[in-house]
Parts: sequence; C-alpha cells; structure tokens
Amino acid sequence: MAGELTVLGIETSCDETAAAIIRASVAMDGDATQVASGGEILSNVVLSQIDMHAPYGGVVPELAARAHLSQLDHLVAAALQQAEMRLEDVDAIAATSGPGLIGGVLIGLATAKALALAANKPFIAVNHLEGHALTARLTGDLGFPYLLLLVSGGHCQLVAVHGLGDYQCLGTTRDDAVGEAFDKAAKLLRLGYPGGPEIEKRAADGTAKRFDLPRPLLGDKQTDTQCDFSFSGLKTALRQQAEKLQPLSDQDIDDLSAGFQAAVLDCLADRSANAMAQFSVRVGPQDPLDFVIAGGVAANSALRQRLQILCHENNFTLHVAPAALCTDNAAMIAWAGAERLAAGYLEADAMAAPARARWPLADVSPG
Ligand code: KG4
Ligand code: ZN
Repeated sequence: MAGELTVLGIETSCDETAAAIIRASVAMDGDATQVASGGEILSNVVLSQIDMHAPYGGVVPELAARAHLSQLDHLVAAALQQAEMRLEDVDAIAATSGPGLIGGVLIGLATAKALALAANKPFIAVNHLEGHALTARLTGDLGFPYLLLLVSGGHCQLVAVHGLGDYQCLGTTRDDAVGEAFDKAAKLLRLGYPGGPEIEKRAADGTAKRFDLPRPLLGDKQTDTQCDFSFSGLKTALRQQAEKLQPLSDQDIDDLSAGFQAAVLDCLADRSANAMAQFSVRVGPQDPLDFVIAGGVAANSALRQRLQILCHENNFTLHVAPAALCTDNAAMIAWAGAERLAAGYLEADAMAAPARARWPLADVSPG
C-alpha cells in the first residue's frame, strides 16, 4: 500500500469535540508498509467546552456528552469543508474508542461508525493515549523506539514505545494524574479551569523558594517504583500552606503557583531521568535516543525547558508537538488511524469495537 492515506479523525473522550483530516505518506519497509513520520494536517477543528464546565471547576460528564452530541455533526462538516473534501474522498475514518468519559466516547464512536458505513470506508477504533503517544510522529521526524512521558488530565506515565502498538509502561501515578493535580491546585487557589495554563501564568510572576513544598518519591531508586509518580501529598501541602495564609494576596497566589509548579517539575524530571537510564539499557547504544513529551501538560513551557536540559545531559533528543496538538485534538486520532491502516493493523470486526472507559496503553494490541 505505497502512496498516500487521507484519514478523518474524531475525538470526543473528554471536553473537546474535535474533527480533523490528515494525510500521511506510506512507505515500504522491506515487505511491510508503514507511514513515514511527518504528516500533513488538512484541517483540525476543535470546539472546547471549557466555558461550559468552568463554573463547576471540572468536567461534568453528562453536560459533556450532550454538547458532543449537538456539535459533532457540524464539526465533521467543518473539517471536510476546510480540507476542501467530501466524505467519499477520505480513505478511512478513525475515532477515539477509549479511554475516556463513556458518554462522550459513545457519541464519537457511533458517529464515526455510521459515517464509515454510509461512505463504505474502513473504520479504525483508536486508543486516545496512543493518539497522544504518536503525535510527535505526525508533527516531526521521529522513528521508533522512543521514550514517552505522557502527562495529561487523566494520565501520568513513562512509556517505552518500541513500535506501533508495542508499549511498555515503565511507571505510572499512584494517585492523581499530573494535569489533575494542576487543576486541583488551581481550584484551591481560586484560579480558573483548566488549571494548568492558569498556574503556569501565575508561576511566572512568583517566587518558588518561598515555600518548602514536598516532592513525593523524589530520589526513590527502587527498581520497580523508580519511574512512578505521586502528587496527592504535594496537593495537601499546598492546601495547608494556602490555609495558613488566608486571605491570599495576589503575591501569595503567584508564589504558591510557582512553588507548586517547581515541585511538580522536580518530580517529573527525577522520574524521567530514571526512565532514561532504564530505556538506554534496554534499547542499547544508539546516538542519540529520543524523548517525547505528550498530553495536555506538555503545553507547559517551563516543563519543556526543564526536560530540554535533562535530555541534553542524558544524550536524548527532545520532541514535543506544538501546544495546540498536545491538548486533545482529532488530528492525533486521525494520525494513529493512518499508522494502523498503513501497517495493516486493523481489527477483524472494527464495527463491533466497544466504547471503553478504561483502556491502558499497555493493553493496546498491534493488530
Ligand atoms: O490531554 P488533555 O487535553 O486532556 C486529557 O486527555 O486529559 O490534557 C488536559 C490537561 C488539563 O489537566 C490541563 O490543566 C493540563 O492538561 N494543561 C496544562 C497546561 N495546559 C494544559 N498543565 C500545565 N501547564 C499547562 N500549560
Ligand atoms: Zn488527552
């Protein structure tokens, strides 16, 4: 299957309704085919529900599902229009089938299946985390294997990506995901939702050293836990500190934000360093190795800077997608679909693919 693949992607697993069309080049690799890294985004439409959920300080699943239902058809039409295409012109349709909020996932999945049936196109059920994991291949020149730090609202893990569908989880969070920790910290400081961008903004004007906040698991070198994360102790310490200072001044909020972000970055860097050591041993000498940050928290520029330094020290090349493709979008789902289609990794009965609330990356199969 050499040539080009054009895929329509649909994403509805959380609070973004999104549709996108991407084009990938397919290359022969011996007898096998795979997409060449670096794709073309023909359209990428994202409708955020942030304003609707903001008063609640988090996503309300029922509201999210209703909004996906009322908006998705228009978004698919807009994605086709921007790409100047008709549904008949795409080669396949891909949609997130989990993990995520089940109501939203069901709506995207049912819509994509219906479109695929109507247009007589293959349907590809995509794992949302695989979408994040492969985004850096859509936006740049990146081959397998690579080490991935996946940091989003629902996930925080270090993964060795050996190939398409071949994911080895080196460590994960014991409690909150890092994006969730940012969101909870922001709520506590009465900042807006989502919390990550708000904390990052306030941290830029704050003094991190003013508070001695804990760094859970920092320095832990035990073989089976050295890539794990924990953020609940940090969140509690932040709350206690904020309570002592009530009422909070603007300067207090800036300093607490800076202290919190610095602690999170220390933890992420410490765990990533351990994962780099493990990955280097496993993959063997290659010069240099690749490190990818993906998921919504990868939009944080202080995190990017910190990990850029760490990569330099450990002989890794850092890859991060542009911020708009780090947070949830459908281009990454279309791309993951194209990767699977090109490699021939299609489920025998994709039309029966279920919506899944839980679907760990390590359980994703190659075909
Ligand atoms: O990947 P994503 O869009 O949705 C999930 O799949 O979870 O990630 C959203 C998360 C939110 O928790 C948000 O606060 C966080 O990413 N986030 C950030 C930043 N931008 C978004 N966290 C820290 N700094 C940022 N600049
Ligand atoms: Zn996500």
